[in-house]
Amino acid sequence: QSPGSKKEERSEMPVSKNAETVLERRYLIRDESGKVTETVEGLFHRVAGSIAGADKPYTGGASTEALEKEFYEAMTNLEFLPNSPTLMNAGRPLGQLSACFVLPVADSMEDIFEAVKQAALIHKSGGGTGFSFSRLRPCGSAVKSTGGVASGPISFMRVFNMATEAVKQGGTRRGANMGILRVDHPDILEFIDCKKNNADITNFNISVGITEEFMAAVIADGEYDLVDPSTKKVVGSLGAKMVYDKIVEGAWRNGEPGIIFLDRLNRDNVVPGQGPIESTNPCGEQPLLPYESCNLGSINLVKMLKQSKNGCEVDWEKLEKTVRTAVHFLDNVIDVNKYPLDKIDETTKATRKIGLGVMGFADMLLLRGISYNSDEGVAAAREIMSFINRVGHEASEELAQQRGAFPLFEESILKDGAARRNSTVTTIAPTGTLSIIAGCSSGVEPVFAYVFIRNVMDGTELIEVNPVLKQLLEERGLYSDELMRRISKEGTIAHIEEIPEDIRRVFVCAHDVTPEYHVKMQAAFQEYTDNAVSKTVNFGHTATLEDVSQVYMLAYRLGCKGVTIYRDGSRDSQVLNIGKVN
Ligand code: CDP
Repeated sequence: QSPGSKKEERSEMPVSKNAETVLERRYLIRDESGKVTETVEGLFHRVAGSIAGADKPYTGGASTEALEKEFYEAMTNLEFLPNSPTLMNAGRPLGQLSACFVLPVADSMEDIFEAVKQAALIHKSGGGTGFSFSRLRPCGSAVKSTGGVASGPISFMRVFNMATEAVKQGGTRRGANMGILRVDHPDILEFIDCKKNNADITNFNISVGITEEFMAAVIADGEYDLVDPSTKKVVGSLGAKMVYDKIVEGAWRNGEPGIIFLDRLNRDNVVPGQGPIESTNPCGEQPLLPYESCNLGSINLVKMLKQSKNGCEVDWEKLEKTVRTAVHFLDNVIDVNKYPLDKIDETTKATRKIGLGVMGFADMLLLRGISYNSDEGVAAAREIMSFINRVGHEASEELAQQRGAFPLFEESILKDGAARRNSTVTTIAPTGTLSIIAGCSSGVEPVFAYVFIRNVMDGTELIEVNPVLKQLLEERGLYSDELMRRISKEGTIAHIEEIPEDIRRVFVCAHDVTPEYHVKMQAAFQEYTDNAVSKTVNFGHTATLEDVSQVYMLAYRLGCKGVTIYRDGSRDSQVLNIGKVN
């Protein structure tokens, strides 16, 4: 495919070859013949102009040129990027800018298939959908109108999965779903095992919705009740420990199901009068009410550093300015957005949730000489996220003074504090694509591997080295291709003796980080995040069920809102194997 005609104009952008490829493939505008008609700068001008334009109604139509420049620079300097749908669709006819949606699934044939249709429209526009299937009557219960028996939540989940499969051919990106079932639903055992086979229900991540009552029963080794959602009657009970062990076994087996702590999500439900939060978006970081959507954005922490006589440190002034720009940007997105349904438009604008987070956290630690796998690393997480959360809330309060609080403010749990424009401000997203565009480590995850060997089609080998490590090794005269091959083969630099101890201590990869520190890091970010934190706890292949169980309990004790684990090699078609990318 043609990479576009104006290549020379794009050289100013500091994006890598990988980033250019990603942008060209999926984000730049094409004409009907598939030819790219937009430059990378053109994309950022389009987005900045469209989002800055939302200021006009609040400023009496004053020029938004200065604001457009502020947004353009934050993006092209790779300091801040909004979620992918905003980059793809802002200033274009589709105009759908959010990554996250939750749709209700009520217990009737009409409602179920209405939700299938709504999800298809959202996927077409690059958004992801979360659903709770907990309201569906259990498999085998009576269907009044036909005298037949109900198929149950899991078989309907398969229908959503098939619809997603079909839509992904024509959409901007592969549709993603989250499926949640409450732990007290009578079909819970079938749900826990529904992704046992790696080839099943592939367009869904699944999570069990855990209640405090269930956790108390696990700890007391007691029984808990199963409730039929359609009759609200107790229809049985199960040993809590047995169910917990099955969840742990599933996660150990292939990472599914994850868990979310429903009561914790609802403790932070800002408008409980609107009903309970039943689900999150596909990657788990954004709890939402039915028909609510949220747009995310992430600050690249690598760009928030400055050199001082003590080495590399956080440039707090720059970070503060970037947070303010980002909150302004994300609030504008809510107004510019073209929502796929009127009901989503209305619900989203009633709470005006935004989700500002970070990427490049692990790279930032490397540059500051701090190990991710340490209390110092966890303290750095607290320090930076508490700052972003505080400044983010202040920025939203200032917007409320100019533009008014979010409409449901007076009925929200925030009503006794300062009025805010956005009912939630912070979320830690995975930044799967954004981190490639920005060329930094993703979200708050540790660096997965420092060296990748790519086999290019003509048989040559391409060695890709983490830029921070490469520079350091070159400075110390230690860099060689041969050493890089060894690092790639071992997957970690922890045991390579030619590399001095001070480097090995800091340059830890995902598998050198103990599961305990993965969870501690997640909990540290959660403490200062309104919504939730996208994080995978990585285990080595030889981890035991007991290891996984301990991590679940730790996450519960430390206040996480959910847990996703992954044991190395536990899925057949693993995308990332240590040191090997095909
Ligand atoms: O980096 P990017 O903005 O592309 O997305 P991300 O941070 O990796 O994912 C953020 C959210 O986008 C996910 O939690 C999903 O809600 C949604 N998403 C999706 O719907 N489909 C995908 N293929 C990837 C992400």
